[in-house]
Amino acid sequence: MADKIGIAVLAAGLGKRMGVDTAKPLIPLMGRRLVDYSLQAANEFCVEQSLDVKFGIVVGHQKEKVEEYLKEEYKNLSIDFPVQKEQKGTADALRAYFEGCSGATSTDYTLVICADTPLITKSELSSLWETLKSENWNSIAASFKTNKPTGYGRIIRADKGFTIVEEKDANEEERKVNEVNSGLYLFETKTILNNLKSVDSNNKAGEFYLTDVFQKDAEVGALCFESERPFLGVNSPVQLGDAVHELKLRINEEHQNRGVLILERAHTYIEPTVKIEPGATIFPGCYLHGKTTISTGAHLEPGCVIKDSHIASDVLIKAYSYLEKAKVSSASQVGPYARLRPGTELGENCKIGNFVEIKKAKLDESVSISHLSYVGDAEIGENVNIGCGFITCNYDGEAKHKTVIGKNSFIGSDTQVIAPINIGESVFVASGSTINQDIPSEAFSLSRGRQVIKEKLASRFLKGKWAINKKN
Ligand code: UD1
Ligand code: CA
Repeated sequence: MADKIGIAVLAAGLGKRMGVDTAKPLIPLMGRRLVDYSLQAANEFCVEQSLDVKFGIVVGHQKEKVEEYLKEEYKNLSIDFPVQKEQKGTADALRAYFEGCSGATSTDYTLVICADTPLITKSELSSLWETLKSENWNSIAASFKTNKPTGYGRIIRADKGFTIVEEKDANEEERKVNEVNSGLYLFETKTILNNLKSVDSNNKAGEFYLTDVFQKDAEVGALCFESERPFLGVNSPVQLGDAVHELKLRINEEHQNRGVLILERAHTYIEPTVKIEPGATIFPGCYLHGKTTISTGAHLEPGCVIKDSHIASDVLIKAYSYLEKAKVSSASQVGPYARLRPGTELGENCKIGNFVEIKKAKLDESVSISHLSYVGDAEIGENVNIGCGFITCNYDGEAKHKTVIGKNSFIGSDTQVIAPINIGESVFVASGSTINQDIPSEAFSLSRGRQVIKEKLASRFLKGKWAINKKN
């Protein structure tokens, strides 16, 4: 039978040092929330080790909001939300976990992880797990060596076992120790339940320290990791920035290893939910969000922002374009400086040029809208060419109306169509027209004031430096 494990995610802290109102677990980080990262790492670890898992997220500060978010986001996980009423320390938080999380006391193991360590992965958790088992310890802490140990609990090793001394309580000798406690632990449940009973608050902070459960001459151990990176804690805006930096590099490197050509790893932001095929090229300054997918051969020039959009193979998105909930089919080109708003669907081989905005519109293949236009609530047939400065007047102040243009039509520059409007196939609309009547297929349509020419009359209107010199 699979081992039963309880995951205690400590998330009750106030997060004062962040300086924002948002509860710390819910602070946005690369398109997700801070708490998502440790939760996901723990879940992946349990799947990998085939463990029977139960989550208990210890909440306190803004508990309703944290709970509401997590319940919605993780419907498929079994999560309880034990409440720690007062923040009296990490041992007190774990007691709250055992009291408020159903089934927690009857698990075989308990993993304790903080909500504010987003860089931990299943790999560190698996190392802890394997070491606990192979060494036959009942408790294990993850530690690392650092040249800046300030603020961390120091690991004081003994011949057998070890203790952890918090910064506040450490003497000069202890403060010099550079092996520190990461705050990530794995326990045999029956041992931790027993050891928690004897934790008191006899220390400088007057808190119940979870670190006090580690003792000399006990079956406990600390696994010292080579890199401190995975254990970065987010307690301040600077550390949040550090976490973004690390995550971004890690994500970009993974894509690069699979054959995605990211030209500048440090200046490209790709959220963990984005999927990219090998053979896509991404220039610096791009920000790819949410459920975006990018296919092979696609080429994103600098500064593109792409949210929840699908970019098919061999698409070229030119510099500084902004796409949201849009679908771009193979071999199409977009931009520079184009905006595709939600509901835009481009067929293959379309050409959308500079300063063109498209919203909720479906374009069949080979449609060209190359300059300075607004197209909203429209259906445009294949091979339609739309000149410069075209506008769908789709909104009457109350409702949005639809524009339909049949295939192979040619719409001259500076045309406005007043929707609802239906333009047939192979229609020619002359430049400068305002179209408010439907046009049948193969018709020509023109609507503009007749041009007037009055010989020699310009002198009446040209003044100042434009005045026409009478002598000439
Ligand atoms: C803790 C460790 C320290 C370690 C460091 C690593 C203790 C006593 N010290 O210190 O040895 O080096 O982490 O980052 O454990 N929390 C609660 N309820 C509480 C207090 C804390 O839920 O009453 C939660 C916080 O939200 C946070 C986590 O526990 O997620 C750690 O608490 P924090 O106050 O940040 O501990 P540190 O001082 O960093
Ligand atoms: Ca901390």
